[in-house]
Amino acid sequence: MAHEFALTPRAVPRIETSLRRIVTDLPVPESLPILERLYRYEPVAMRGQPPIVWDHAEGFQVHDKYGNCWIDWSSGVLITNAGHGRQEIVDAITRQASSHLLTNYCFPSEIRARLVERLSSLMPEPLKKIFLLTTGSEAVECAIKLCRTHGVKVGGRGKHIIVSFVDAFHGRTLGSQQAGGIPSLKEWIVNLDHGFIQVPFPDGFRNPDTSFDGFMRRLTEQGVESQNVAGVILETYQGGSAAFAPVEFMHSLRQWCNGHKVLLVCDEVQAGFGRTGTMFGFEHYGIVPDLATFGKGITSSLPLAAVAGRPDVMDLHGVNTMTSTHTGNAVCCAAALASIDIVVNENLPERARQTGALLHQRLNEIKAKHPQIGAVFGKGLVAGVCCMHHGANEPDGDLAWEIVNLCLEKGVLMFTPVGFGGGTVKIAPPLVISEEAILESTAVLDEAFEQALSVRHAFAG
Ligand SMILES: Cc1ncc(COP(=O)(O)O)c(C=O)c1O
Repeated sequence: MAHEFALTPRAVPRIETSLRRIVTDLPVPESLPILERLYRYEPVAMRGQPPIVWDHAEGFQVHDKYGNCWIDWSSGVLITNAGHGRQEIVDAITRQASSHLLTNYCFPSEIRARLVERLSSLMPEPLKKIFLLTTGSEAVECAIKLCRTHGVKVGGRGKHIIVSFVDAFHGRTLGSQQAGGIPSLKEWIVNLDHGFIQVPFPDGFRNPDTSFDGFMRRLTEQGVESQNVAGVILETYQGGSAAFAPVEFMHSLRQWCNGHKVLLVCDEVQAGFGRTGTMFGFEHYGIVPDLATFGKGITSSLPLAAVAGRPDVMDLHGVNTMTSTHTGNAVCCAAALASIDIVVNENLPERARQTGALLHQRLNEIKAKHPQIGAVFGKGLVAGVCCMHHGANEPDGDLAWEIVNLCLEKGVLMFTPVGFGGGTVKIAPPLVISEEAILESTAVLDEAFEQALSVRHAFAG
C-alpha cells in the first residue's frame, strides 16, 4: 500500500534563502479547504503527491500562495524541460488562442504542419514521420499497434509478441499497462494478453546479468521464439530507477531486431528533449529505434505526445484509421514549437549534461557516506537514488519516503518515491536549473539523509 500524506499541519523549521522559502506549517493550514475539496471529489488514487497547493511556478521554482517557495526537482513529472512558466511558451499559447483556432481534429492546420515538420527535422533517419497524440500512454498504445501490424504483415499472425522489461512503466491504459513490467499495477486486467512478455532489464543492479545472451535466455525460458516477436519496447532509461542499459546490449538488441524483422521502440516519454544531456536519450546508445514515443517534455506545459517512426511503418494503416480527437491540438502545437525552440536555442541538452555532471558528482559523494544508498543511476538531469535496507538487498521505501518528506520541509520538492519497493528518490529538475541551485538542493538532500539515518541509528543503538 502506498504511503498517504496526512492533512494535519506540522510545525516545520522556517527556511529563508535566495532560492527556498518555508514560512508556514506544512501542509499550510489555510490551504486545507482546497485539499479537502480535492479529497472529496477526486478518487483516492489522486492522493499520491505532497499536499502543497501549487499557485505558480517559474524556471526551477514552485510557489504556493502562502509565501513558500521550493527548488523543484520534479518538473511536474518530468514535463517542464524548458522551465516552468516560460514567457515564450505563455506568449505562443496566448497568440494561438487569440487566433481563435483552438481545435481542428484531423482537419489540416498550418500550426500542425509546422510542428510535424520541426519534429521530423530534429529526428535522425529513419524516424521521419510523426503522429501527434495527447498522452504518453496513447503514444505507447500506437507504437504497440504499429509493432503488431508490422509483425503480422511480415511474419503472419503468430508474429505478434511484444517484449518489454521488468519494472518498466509505459502508462496506465490497457495496452501500455500490459507492456509495463510492474505486476501489481496489472492485477485489475485479470485476463492478461499472453502476447506481452517481460524480461529483466540489464541494469547490473536488480539484474546482474547485463548480457544479450541473458535476454535471449529469458525469451527461451518463456517459450518465445524470435520469429514470433513483433516488437521490443523499452524506456530509454527505466523510469523507476533512471538506469540505462549497457551500450553493447543495445547494439546487440538492435542487430537482433534487424535480423528478425522485429521493431525496436524507445519510449522517450521521459528521456526526450534534452533530459539526459542529449536531445534524445537513445543517442547515448548510438542506435536509432524504428519507433520512438514522446510526451511530457515535448511542450514543457500542455498535453501533447508524439510517435516518430520509419515511414514504411507509420504508413501501415490506411486513410482515417489512425486518428485521435485531439491529435495535434493547435494550442498544444504552439506550446510544443515554443518549447522546442527554447530547448534548441538555449542548448538545453548540453546544459543538462554539464549541470547533470555536477548533480551526479554530488549524489555520488552523498552515496559514499551512506551504505543505505545502493546505487545512483541516471544521466544528465535525471537521477535515481536507490535506498536500500542496510545489509540486505531490499529496497527501503520508508527511507525514500522520509527523504522526500524531509526535503519537502526544507524547500526541495520531489514527487513521491518511485521504482521497485518505492525505494527510489527520483531527481528531475527543469533543465534550466542553475549550478547554485544544484549545490543548494543537493546539500538539502545530504542533510535529509544525515537526519533520517541518525534517527534510525539512535533507535538501533
Ligand atoms: C516512459 C513513460 N512512458 C509512458 C508514460 C505515460 O505517459 P502519460 O502519463 O502521459 O500517459 C510515462 C509516464 O510517466 C512514462 O514515464
